Parts: sequence; structure tokens; C-alpha cells
Amino acid sequence: MPTFAQALNSQVGYEFAASQQYIAIATYYDAQTLPQLAAHFYRQAVEERNHAMMMVQYLLDADLQVAIPGVSAPRTEFADIVEPVQLALDQEKRVTAQIAELVRGARDEGDFVGEQFLHWFLQEQREEVSSMSALLQVAERSRDNVMLIEDYLARESSGAANPLEAGAPPAAGGVL
Ligand SMILES: [Fe+2]
Ligand SMILES: [Fe+2]
Repeated sequence: MPTFAQALNSQVGYEFAASQQYIAIATYYDAQTLPQLAAHFYRQAVEERNHAMMMVQYLLDADLQVAIPGVSAPRTEFADIVEPVQLALDQEKRVTAQIAELVRGARDEGDFVGEQFLHWFLQEQREEVSSMSALLQVAERSRDNVMLIEDYLARESSGAANPLEAGAPPAAGGVL
């Protein structure tokens, strides 16, 4: 059983791996001149990088050892425009389970400060699974007319900022 600190270091790697995967998805769309899909996933990649750096800041603040892990290669080839969104939703669901497991680890160690740190990530995962499953529905509807999803993103991604951002934990080196 890894300690909570070890498990959190591993999660830093999973967040960076998610970031790399989103860059791979963004460039797949960018190469097909689908700028809204590309922009959406470039932005997601930055968010995942920020999640990793929030965890790094927590490890520093809690005086725990920080060991930045490597990441495995992302998938870069996809059958159609829907497949990357399905992959992204699967990834978000997997991360939700990982964060839940971290909460369990913190609680088992009686580390309530660590557990409280993770609560923001639970909320963030609820939001990300919800928005990615909405995007998957739109992607499936747009299989034969990709401009439907481009128009959807142009409409939906302008305007209101994610209210969760206001309460986000600080990131090492500053949030991007
Ligand atoms: Fe994340
Ligand atoms: Fe995410």
C-alpha cells in the first residue's frame, strides 16, 4: 500500500499524462482544421497541467517529498472525430476514481488536511465528467456534419468562467 504522499506523487504523473493526452487530441483536431475542438482540448491540457502543479504545491506546503514522475505516451491516432472525446470521457472517469481513492487514503491515515485539499478535485471531476459526456453526445450527433460540434463549442465556450476556478488551490509556480 503506498502512503498518501506516494499516491499523491503518482497522481501528479496521471495529471501530466492527462495533459499530454489532451495535447495529442488537440493537435489531431488542429491538423484537420477544427479550431474550436482544438482550442477546447488545448485549454483542457493546460487545466490538467495546473491540477498537477496544485498537487505539487500541496506536497511542498505539507513538507512531503516531491518526486515528479514520468508519463507514458498518449494515444495520437483516432478512427474519427468522436473517438478522442470518448477517450477523454473515459480518462475523466478514471481520474475521478483515482481522486476518490486518494481521499480514502488520506482518511485512512487520519490526514484531514490532505482530505480537505482533495475536496476541490472531487467537485472539479464532477464538472469535467459532466461537460465531457455532454460533448460526447454532441460529437456523436455531429459524426456526419462536424460543423455542428464546432458551432456548439463556439456558442458554449464563450462567456462565463468556471465558478470552481475561484476556489482552486494554489499551483506551484502559479496557475497558467
Ligand atoms: Fe485533472
Ligand atoms: Fe480532467
